Amino acid sequence: MEFYEAVNKRRTVREFQDKLVPEDAVRRALAAGLRAPCNAHLKSWQFILLRDLEKRDKAVFDGLKARDMKDRDEIERFVARFDEPELKKVYRRSLPLQQTMMLQAPELLLVCYRMKSLNECRTLFELNPLASAWMCVENIMLALAAEGLFGCTYTPYDSKGLKEFLGVPAGYEIAAVIPFGYPQEPPGENQGEDLDARLHVDGWE
Ligand SMILES: Cc1cc2nc3c(=O)[nH]c(=O)nc-3n(C[C@H](O)[C@H](O)[C@H](O)COP(=O)(O)O)c2cc1C
Repeated sequence: MEFYEAVNKRRTVREFQDKLVPEDAVRRALAAGLRAPCNAHLKSWQFILLRDLEKRDKAVFDGLKARDMKDRDEIERFVARFDEPELKKVYRRSLPLQQTMMLQAPELLLVCYRMKSLNECRTLFELNPLASAWMCVENIMLALAAEGLFGCTYTPYDSKGLKEFLGVPAGYEIAAVIPFGYPQEPPGENQGEDLDARLHVDGWE
């Protein structure tokens, strides 16, 4: 697939077909992740694929404590903080799937990276390992799109329990938990944004 085609196709998908993902496609996507640029030549990235379903259930329920928000009133209370109707729509669709997407996806990937604790960081510059990890994540998501595979980059609010459960070594963080697979419905094309409204030349005017 041509590069811009993959960029335009990539969308967040939270509902998947019950269909195995070919191992070589997974490996190609992860290898693409490892080709991403990084700060200080430090590619500290490690991947965990959670394939044992019992272990995955425990990781999601006990470690991650991800939950589906099903109650309509609770969802409406949550979306009330946003003015934009589009944003409300996205949350109404995604909140009930936060746990389900991880339990039902054919693959669940964790992207880990090394970083000193947030308390020790005093400048944005020191967050470069996090920025680099997301370069890796985006390469993976684009590579998956090129394979016809889609997923969701879930960011754990608190990953301590999950790291403990999976034996992630001290000093590592989890950038994203990514359920992925073949989409249940064809994802709409990525519409993009109005570039002219965001492009400034020679200063912010
Ligand atoms: C840093 C980051 C964190 C995100 N966290 C979540 C999340 O916790 N749960 C979720 O369902 N989607 C999450 N998303 C996916 C966004 O909701 C999605 O990318 C956004 O709505 C734009 O849609 P698109 O990816 O289809 O273009 C996250 C995306 C990013 C980049």
